[in-house]
Amino acid sequence: MASYQMEWSQSRNLSVRSPDALCSVAEIDEFDFSKALVERPRSLNIERQRSADERSMSELSVGFSPRPSSTKNDNSSRAGDTFDSAFSPLQKSGIPRSLILDPHPIINEGWEALRRSLVYFRGQPVGTIAALDNSDEKLNYDQVFVRDFVPSALAFLMHREPDIVKNFILKTLRLQSWEKKIDRFQLAEGVMPASFKVFHDPVRNHETLIADFGESAIGRVAPVDSGFWWIILLRAYTKATGDSSLAERPECQKGMRLILSLCLSEGFDTFPTLLCADGCCMIDRRMGVYGYPIEIQALFFMALRCALQLLKQDPEGKEFMERIVKRLHALSYHLRSYFWLDLKQLNDVYRFKTEEYSHTAVNKFNVIPDSLPDWVFDFMPHHGGYFIGNVSPARMDFRWFCLGNCIAILSCLATPEQSVAIMDLIESRWQELVGEMPVKVCYPAIESHEWRIITGCDPKNTRWSYHNGGSWPVLLWLLAAASIKTGRPQIARHALEIAETRLLKDNWPEYYDGTQGRYIGKQARKFQTWSIAGYLVARMMLDDPSHLGIVALEEDKHLKPLLKRSNSWNL
Ligand code: GLC
Repeated sequence: MASYQMEWSQSRNLSVRSPDALCSVAEIDEFDFSKALVERPRSLNIERQRSADERSMSELSVGFSPRPSSTKNDNSSRAGDTFDSAFSPLQKSGIPRSLILDPHPIINEGWEALRRSLVYFRGQPVGTIAALDNSDEKLNYDQVFVRDFVPSALAFLMHREPDIVKNFILKTLRLQSWEKKIDRFQLAEGVMPASFKVFHDPVRNHETLIADFGESAIGRVAPVDSGFWWIILLRAYTKATGDSSLAERPECQKGMRLILSLCLSEGFDTFPTLLCADGCCMIDRRMGVYGYPIEIQALFFMALRCALQLLKQDPEGKEFMERIVKRLHALSYHLRSYFWLDLKQLNDVYRFKTEEYSHTAVNKFNVIPDSLPDWVFDFMPHHGGYFIGNVSPARMDFRWFCLGNCIAILSCLATPEQSVAIMDLIESRWQELVGEMPVKVCYPAIESHEWRIITGCDPKNTRWSYHNGGSWPVLLWLLAAASIKTGRPQIARHALEIAETRLLKDNWPEYYDGTQGRYIGKQARKFQTWSIAGYLVARMMLDDPSHLGIVALEEDKHLKPLLKRSNSWNL
């Protein structure tokens, strides 16, 4: 620990910590990825596939074209068994220099494992399986999860292999148009699946897709994040390839509008944030993330900003753009003001008066200071801050969540000062948030009575395990992107160094347990694809920061905060 701290203070001195440092990010953002893609992607005969796509799903279940490989005894199809070494990334051109100078076996092994996880549908790669671990009960880990595919997609985009991403985008779009029902209740048209799998019928020798919109998932919750990730991925594809024709297709425009109608619809809301059920995102079990979880709010914000770039200026598109702009204003104000916590704000909450009435109220949600947890007073550093987990009437969930805070940086939901403060906090609380494996999904764990009440005694989410304070290697890509965007790549470098000592040796676990992430997770799958892809994406971004533009947005001058509350920068 001591040596880390020493290194840290040295590297902190080197890092440019003023908000001005973010202008370097703008420069990176300006990088034209279309020009970088000198090597055109290999064609996977998309045209032929598109004609199949245009048929109805019922028809899709009839036709069958041979796949490049078949699996042994399970019904999902993937290419793992016939992995062709000709695909080895190091044999392709355009490899980051550092990979050639310092070929780390983990990178080759990672790519091979990632390719083994490819899932094929009628001869075309359409996604990656959640985990290739055959030692444990499969549950739904043999499916392609939308959220899990995101880091895989980014890895392929950064590696100039965009076709699989395009296939995935189009295939999931077709699934969106399915009629979805849970018991007798019909789900909204815009809902995107949580996951899907390819069903291979050996008797009739044909393949069909089976999707899950939450009706099979544990807890029966629809994945609110899937639609947002889909839009974010569409923008990433467009940015990485320079090909806007995919996003401009009428079906993609419609898919986007359907997702947007769901989250921009009018109701009884008094806040611009999105009201959610527990378990509707990466944390897909009961964990007290119902209400207005930061993960969803940050993804919502980012997806809205991406949609603004992708929507066509036709009458329908324009109408949505107007609604988006209004919502972004309200959303950024609300989140930056009420979800933001730093030392000054914590002190203000601690001294809050309660039962205030009318527009002049300071404590708008009537949060009772006695509900402040003890840990937060020690956790809050002098320099630093973060978006807290949830804000709703009389409730502030002070837990720190990695995904929401990193997405806040990447989407510029966080102001430049807030972005710096988030990274300051990560540095100051390195042992707690990174420790022996990056990165904690949330901090701290809930225990004892609170665990009983909040999780419903969930044996998978015991303290410091899984979603309850577990450490998830997939989050590396988000941490790396956030650190590069804030001009502090040394944070990513340190995190990667730690991960590289263990990930390959441990066979890419899904998550780690313990206060420091020292132990392989109790029920963690091995060869968890997003652990592999998350690592590779982080490595590629660090080796070639120009990749950042695929996942990060530039600051929108129109969304500048009107009112500045406390910020760590001024402390
Ligand atoms: C677990 C995770 C979820 C992930 C799924 C597949 O359920 O909580 O976020 O998508 O596994 O890896």
